[in-house]
Amino acid sequence: MTIEKKYFAPGRVNLIGEHLDYNGGLVMPCAIDLGISATVTNNSQGEIKLSSAAHANQFEFQINELPEFEPKNEWSNYPLGILKHLQMEGLNLPSIAISFDSNLPEGSGLSSSAAIEVLTAFIVQDLLDIQINRKHLAQFCQKVENDFIGVKCGIMDQFAVANSKKEHAILLDCNTLNYEHIPFELDDYSLLILNSKKPRSLIKSAYNERKASCDEALRILQQHAPIQTLAEARMEHLLLLKDEALIKRARHVIAEQLRVNLSKKMLENGDLFTFGKLMNASHASLKYDFEVSGLELDMLAETAQEVLGCLGARMTGAGFGGCAIALVKNESIEDFTEVVTTSYTKATGLNCEVYATFACDGVDSINN
Ligand code: GLA
Repeated sequence: MTIEKKYFAPGRVNLIGEHLDYNGGLVMPCAIDLGISATVTNNSQGEIKLSSAAHANQFEFQINELPEFEPKNEWSNYPLGILKHLQMEGLNLPSIAISFDSNLPEGSGLSSSAAIEVLTAFIVQDLLDIQINRKHLAQFCQKVENDFIGVKCGIMDQFAVANSKKEHAILLDCNTLNYEHIPFELDDYSLLILNSKKPRSLIKSAYNERKASCDEALRILQQHAPIQTLAEARMEHLLLLKDEALIKRARHVIAEQLRVNLSKKMLENGDLFTFGKLMNASHASLKYDFEVSGLELDMLAETAQEVLGCLGARMTGAGFGGCAIALVKNESIEDFTEVVTTSYTKATGLNCEVYATFACDGVDSINN
């Protein structure tokens, strides 16, 4: 068969509900208009070729000798992990060349890894004409990120890339994987992404460390309370913890879960003003209790929160650098951008970038 097909997978922002997915809580991400596209063509028999406009090195692998994760395979480890695991599930991989192109900044907390993972899995299932449902697609890609890449992430990013819907956010219960699409219509406001441009070093170990602390807090609470996940805990349970760091981590999880529940109501009522206040509170909790923010993200979010026309701002994603988001009145965007970018450069010596985005659909093929 001769193939020439095109596909697109978006990045995502999380509106609220941070570091809740691996604690069995509620999250509220949406896909954005930045993402990764792929053109798929035939390749020599028995080989898969991966190239990317964003990277100098391209990679070619023998289908029956796909390697394990190796640093020398750089960016291609993400699609490779997906291909290898699909093969381990018993699929006969086609001989294809995938050439990726992207306008999604990498390593900046907008889920470029989930996007390329979900995109690769979607391409293979489409070419082989086997319909994996989108929930399973997300679960499969999360498992690859956990086992092949080694980041013990939750399901949120892969789920958002696979299941997002235009003009909606996803309210996902990460314990049951039940979800609903909540209208996210902004009328006179825009969703802005504020990219700190701070390289996210040590993210893998710091992230896994937060997860380990949450697991430990849950283990202790379960000796006294009948809870299955940390997100089910209540504030009074904090009295059962002794370690100061565990108390802070658990307090973030419990309070953030309450904020997501309130956010759902606010968005359903079209009350963006109160939703903005919840975003601000979420940022403070990630800064003081979960301690995943940092000078750059604090600077961005806290400066943004003070500008006239901004309803709320917070870091989004794992933290430790990456991006913040802000809800800003359309007529104030220009002034907002000027104030935030100038103050940020003055305080950090870095230049941030500001992009307006909107809630988009999840992964799909592109028909020319
Ligand atoms: C990263 C992970 C997600 C989630 C967020 C924090 O994006 O990949 O699973 O834990 O951090 O909310």
